[in-house]
Amino acid sequence: MTPTAAALREGPLARLGKVFRTTAFKLSLAYLVVFALLASVGLGYVAWNARRVLDDQIVSTIEAEINGLSEQYTAGGLRRLIAVVERRAREPGASLYLVTTPAGEQIVGNVSRVPVGVLTTPGQYEGPYERGADSDRVEHRAIMRVYTLAGGFRLLVGRDTEERDRLRDAIGNTFGSSLALVLVLGVVGGWFVASRVLKRVDDMTETTRTIMAGDLDGRLRLAGTGDELDRLAQNLNLMLERIGELMHGMRQVSDNIAHDLKTPLTRLRNRADEALRSAETPEALRAAIEGIVEDSDGLIRVFNALLTIARLEAGNAPDAAARTFDAGTVVREVAELYEPLAEEQGLRLTLSAEPDLPVSGNRELVGQALANLLDNAIKYGADTITVSARRAGDAVTFHVADGGPGIPEAERARVLDRFVRLDAARSRPGFGLGLSLVNAVARLHGGSLTLADNRPGLSVLLTLPLARP
Ligand SMILES: Nc1ncnc2c1ncn2[C@@H]1O[C@H](COP(=O)(O)OP(=O)(O)OP(=O)(O)O)[C@@H](O)[C@H]1O
Ligand SMILES: [Mg+2]
Repeated sequence: MTPTAAALREGPLARLGKVFRTTAFKLSLAYLVVFALLASVGLGYVAWNARRVLDDQIVSTIEAEINGLSEQYTAGGLRRLIAVVERRAREPGASLYLVTTPAGEQIVGNVSRVPVGVLTTPGQYEGPYERGADSDRVEHRAIMRVYTLAGGFRLLVGRDTEERDRLRDAIGNTFGSSLALVLVLGVVGGWFVASRVLKRVDDMTETTRTIMAGDLDGRLRLAGTGDELDRLAQNLNLMLERIGELMHGMRQVSDNIAHDLKTPLTRLRNRADEALRSAETPEALRAAIEGIVEDSDGLIRVFNALLTIARLEAGNAPDAAARTFDAGTVVREVAELYEPLAEEQGLRLTLSAEPDLPVSGNRELVGQALANLLDNAIKYGADTITVSARRAGDAVTFHVADGGPGIPEAERARVLDRFVRLDAARSRPGFGLGLSLVNAVARLHGGSLTLADNRPGLSVLLTLPLARP
């Protein structure tokens, strides 16, 4: 069963579980919980505060009434108090009154019963009570205050708390239903977001699977929204592109190596074979073996060059410790080394090097690069070869120019690749590795290599940054 078929067969329960396990869903859920907690705390505080304000109001109204009534009592005695309470108790509204004898017998008021003990302890009290005309058996609650008047009479004033409690219930109910709504919407929203994200991630997973299975040209689909998943996909696509290029390059290099080393190896073998068959004198055998050793040395040089280029391109030079050396000295040494060879070919070599050109890097590698350029100039050039080292801004420019046929503009990029030799060069010895190495050395030192037209001939510019003082 392929992964796709497995994905298709995935039941709705498994799919749901997958959605719940997504980061998007977990984050929405966490956000929801935090939001609900904060909202509860906020609303709880509001409710608590509202109740406090209402309670304060009730208590101060009660206190004002008690003060008023006790003044009436002081001014007009029990008779006046009873008259006032009787009148007020008849008024519609939430106020409660009761006047009792010192022994606790009710004299006047609209409260028929309060819990035992309330009347005998002066102070504030909140709890149940019964109204005078109560026919319904509904429980009422009130905040009440008991005050002992001069002479031992007791006065109870209170206010029903029904309204306050209704407000509290309303707040509680509203909050409860809003919270439930928010939770439902949050879970649904989280699920929606998560399943969308999941669908795209599944898509990506599917594509990567096919890529891993061998479809190296496969690319991740972009939604075109430019969001984080798109950016991720874009970068992964770039990475795939790069990997593809590298793999292509590597395949080409290994093909080239196999192809280009076959010829010298065959030659080596044929030479040995020939010697075995036809060399009759020890001298002839000796000459043949010397030829074989020479060919083998050539092969070893090629392998060394290949290894060096590979290492340089991977960014690590042999003896990578950067030292500062003078570019002029190096160019002079290399030119001196090649002067006899140039003369032998009937070429004139002119050299100019400015003093004080400090370069930081690997002296041997830079020397090798210059040697490769001079080798080419002598091999392919004509008339005069000019070599120079000059300061150009904060860089040093090595310039090697010859009067030969040059390289056509269309080929100038290609000859920097490994094993590339132009047809005109086939008659000369070489493997097509010289310029690759120069290029790798330039890049390792943060410099550049440019091929140009010398009219006639080739003009090569190798630029390396000057060492910072
Ligand atoms: N000065 C030059 N004039 C004309 N053609 C050149 C010159 N330098 C290089 N080339 C061309 O570029 C190709 C690549 O040069 P490169 O130095 O990399 O390899 P090579 O000289 O052929 O072999 P190797 O340097 O490995 O011995 C050469 O084969 C030649 O065709
Ligand atoms: Mg060369």
